[in-house]
Amino acid sequence: MNTPLHLLKRPRRNRKSESIRALIQENFIQASNLIMPFFITEGKQVRSPISSLPNQFHLSVDELLIEVESILISGIGTVILFPLITSHYKDSLGSYAINPKSFFYKAVYTLKKAFPQLTIITDIALDPYTSHGHDGVISDSGCVLNDETVQILTEMACLQAEAGADIVAPSDMMDGRVKAIREALDKNRFEYVSIMSYTAKYASAFYKPFRSALQSAPTFGNKKSYQMNPANSREALIEAKLDEEEGADFLMIKPASIYLDIIQKIRSNSNLPVVAYHVSGEYAMIKAAAQRGWLDFEHTLFETLLSIKRAGADAIISYGAKELATWLKSSTAPLDEEPTDRQTSQ
Ligand code: PBG
Repeated sequence: MNTPLHLLKRPRRNRKSESIRALIQENFIQASNLIMPFFITEGKQVRSPISSLPNQFHLSVDELLIEVESILISGIGTVILFPLITSHYKDSLGSYAINPKSFFYKAVYTLKKAFPQLTIITDIALDPYTSHGHDGVISDSGCVLNDETVQILTEMACLQAEAGADIVAPSDMMDGRVKAIREALDKNRFEYVSIMSYTAKYASAFYKPFRSALQSAPTFGNKKSYQMNPANSREALIEAKLDEEEGADFLMIKPASIYLDIIQKIRSNSNLPVVAYHVSGEYAMIKAAAQRGWLDFEHTLFETLLSIKRAGADAIISYGAKELATWLKSSTAPLDEEPTDRQTSQ
């Protein structure tokens, strides 16, 4: 008797036990692939909650040290740091960005000294420092100038490297910045400081909680003349090719979970490590729903980050990195635990 064809092939055979499912699992999230962002502020004993990003804080350096100790214990080895620049330090050129006495450079130095094994990424962009909130120097007619901005970025890169950054991450989508930063770093004997280029950074509505956290929203216009059009994907490959040629060590895509096609495209067109930035708005959506009991925070974040890995990212920046790493440590096989409808811890 002939078995009907649809019953000869039973894909469920490969899902029949925990052991078989584990045997053939293709993608994983490990704490060591996660990067935790932190917002640094001037002062001492400051740990103030950020209202647009629940469970995230503005931290002074002493508090940062405490946080970093705990993320290292959770298995995360890499952080990315952003400065909260108060308005009295801001001006139209973003001059405080290249002030060697900046509290931010001191914080990087202190952190590296305390934890030499930690990988420190610093963001290179002028927007936290400019009074107008744009990422570059503005011309009289209101254009964001490219080459003038790149010059300042090279100085920022060297100050960050000198303070102890292992990886610098230019995030403003100016043209030619990777090459200029590479040359400046090399000239100043920072040959081993890496560049993680924000390769495909889209002009996204999902950055809003971050901009509220840093008080860095543009005061006029938008960022569409430098960040990419969310409608485009081939353009990401042009950016990726240039970044690779200019000497980038990592290519970054952001946002992440709504740009999985871009991650996959860049992954298949480059052999460089690919990093995805699960940005503030992507985190805030999950957090807000979890706070209402509509979603389970860890399970939803885990599945989201897994999709980013499946698309081809090697490493992921996420505001939920610490919570997820802690959860992964406490739970042996997250995929085998069905999400429950219990209220989340938040
Ligand atoms: C600065 C910068 C931004 C983010 C990272 N670096 C904001 C922006 O471009 O306006 C956004 C990160 C996030 O939303 O989590 N250029």
